[in-house]
Amino acid sequence: MWALGTWVLLGAVCAGSAQLQFNVIKSVEQTICNKTVTLPCIVTNLAQNNTKVMFVKWKLEKKEFFSFDGSNGKFDRNVNFSSAMLGSLQNLKLGIASLTISKTQAVPGNYSCEVAESNREGETVIELIYRIVSWFTPVENILIILSMVLAILIYWIQLAVTGSKFETTLLKIGLFIAGVVITVFAVVGFSLLISDEFKPENQIGLGLIVLPAVILVPPQYFLLKIVRENNLSFAIGVIVLESLGYLIAVIGFGLCITACRPKNGAVVIAGLAIMALTAFVGLIYAILIGSSKKEQHPRKAVEEPLNG
Ligand SMILES: *[C@@H]1O[C@H](CO)[C@@H](O)[C@H](O)[C@H]1NC(C)=O
Ligand SMILES: *[C@@H]1O[C@H](CO)[C@@H](O)[C@H](O)[C@H]1NC(C)=O
Ligand SMILES: *[C@@H]1O[C@H](CO)[C@@H](O)[C@H](O)[C@H]1NC(C)=O
Ligand SMILES: *[C@@H]1O[C@H](CO)[C@@H](O)[C@H](O)[C@H]1NC(C)=O
Repeated sequence: MWALGTWVLLGAVCAGSAQLQFNVIKSVEQTICNKTVTLPCIVTNLAQNNTKVMFVKWKLEKKEFFSFDGSNGKFDRNVNFSSAMLGSLQNLKLGIASLTISKTQAVPGNYSCEVAESNREGETVIELIYRIVSWFTPVENILIILSMVLAILIYWIQLAVTGSKFETTLLKIGLFIAGVVITVFAVVGFSLLISDEFKPENQIGLGLIVLPAVILVPPQYFLLKIVRENNLSFAIGVIVLESLGYLIAVIGFGLCITACRPKNGAVVIAGLAIMALTAFVGLIYAILIGSSKKEQHPRKAVEEPLNG
């Protein structure tokens, strides 16, 4: 009796100290940008470092879907987790039983990782959380749209201010059509750019906002030329700056287009803002020159009869 009692007690003590311990990670996040998902499971106190005596079991909400039996090297997977893979056996030997699953098969929830080494065993639970992420941040979206709205709005105001000066209706119609085209592209682009979660439509939307913006550049030249026909250096300066803004925006677009979470949104915003700003400077110029011309006309009209 005594012997048995001691044996049971010893066994309990041994089992207690024989638990495998883990590097505890409570949760990991998955977003639409993860192509694969890795659930960490790291044992910190393996003694034998021999996969032949190890057994690994992964469960989702208490239901087993993956197991690895080190004694015969056999994997067992549920059909819904056919992509599940351990890292290398070399890593498993060191206690890394982390599981990698393709993004389509990874389901949010509580996963448990059970590892056994001979008679020692242990379990750790990791929650896989799905987080919704948009392509650009809301602030970036607002700045992109705001810059473009300003650039287009200023174009229309300038067309309204200087439109009456054009003698050829053909040019006037051309400038009007350019305005309509860029407005339509931008509005469609805005509606595609905005969404809660990243979608390929967002990239098309940015393309529709940035790429057709070049339509704004040549009309700007005509709009400024009509203001002052004999001195074109200002008009040319504005066009050069606006082209530069466009170039920066296109470079930014190129940098952002392939990234799931773009880091260069600021480049697109800077480019579009330069375009809006140069358009604004052009408008101020047109208004100032226009009003000073108007002031000159009545004076001439008064002076002429006096001279004559
Ligand atoms: C998803 O990807 C991010 C960024 O690459 C990474 O930090 C994260 O660990 C991944 N999530 C999972 C669950 O693998
Ligand atoms: C066995 O693996 C543990 C990590 O679990 C490591 O600290 C230890 O150095 C390894 N021992 C040998 C002999 O490789
Ligand atoms: C796989 O997933 C489907 C749908 O979620 C479920 O109905 C089915 O029972 C799962 N298969 C197994 C073997 O668990
Ligand atoms: C996972 O477990 C935690 C803690 O028990 C719980 O708060 C959470 O809701 C569970 N997550 C899911 C998806 O069941």
